[in-house]
Amino acid sequence: MATKRQFRVWRGDDTGGQLEDFEIEVKEGEVVLDIIHRLQATEAPDLACRWNCKAGKCGSCSMEINGLPRLGCMTRMSTFTEEETVTITPLRTFPVIRDLVTDVSFNYEKARETPAFAPPVGVAPGDYRMQQIDVERSQEFRKCIECFLCQNTCHVVRDHEDNKEAFSGPRYFIRAAELDMHPLDARTDRKDYAVEEQGLGMCNITKCCTEVCPEHIKITDNAIIPMKERAVDRKYDPLVWLGSKIFRR
Ligand code: SF4
Ligand code: F3S
Ligand code: FES
Repeated sequence: MATKRQFRVWRGDDTGGQLEDFEIEVKEGEVVLDIIHRLQATEAPDLACRWNCKAGKCGSCSMEINGLPRLGCMTRMSTFTEEETVTITPLRTFPVIRDLVTDVSFNYEKARETPAFAPPVGVAPGDYRMQQIDVERSQEFRKCIECFLCQNTCHVVRDHEDNKEAFSGPRYFIRAAELDMHPLDARTDRKDYAVEEQGLGMCNITKCCTEVCPEHIKITDNAIIPMKERAVDRKYDPLVWLGSKIFRR
């Protein structure tokens, strides 16, 4: 059964914009992205929106729906009451290009800054061997679809543009943790890197990133907190401290 529902959609570009009101038909089983497609097919043919898979796997359709960072293709219209106006706005942390499309290149810059997996010296590709338990440990982090909802929601950059240079954000903390847990990664400085280069210390464990992750990755509990603990352990471990004194001589 179809019903008429109220929508507010942000329209504009990098010079400014405003919310526009629409009344549009919603059918049973539809998601927010279906409504955006119906708007494009009817009243707003030039409405810009990034999407690709419509299956929650490409991470393209990130947007804010009634103020919450979500995937448009995974947000069912049945989430909202029939009387509720559904307000759709672009991700707030990144610059708007047009309508619901933002420039997420901040994330690609942080990805490029993260040192890649370094294979062990003298072991040819194909000869790498690791235990299944180590494969499974970081499997959770590899589920990331790079939707950047966690990056968008973290208050460290959401409300503070000037923190962007020093802070890589939760998506790249899980990348550092994944590589830190990799038994064949020859780089030993992932913890120092996370603290000194990625700004791990600026995270005050609010867990907002974990709450919005559509892949249900336990970003804070399984990546951020263990990395913080290991960095601290290393700094204050008396044996490590003693070793650093002896070998510095
Ligand atoms: Fe999206 Fe989760 Fe990956 Fe963050 S960690 S980019 S919220 S899938
Ligand atoms: Fe930000 Fe997540 Fe830390 S929201 S403050 S990175 S726990
Ligand atoms: Fe691919 Fe929504 S369109 S995640």
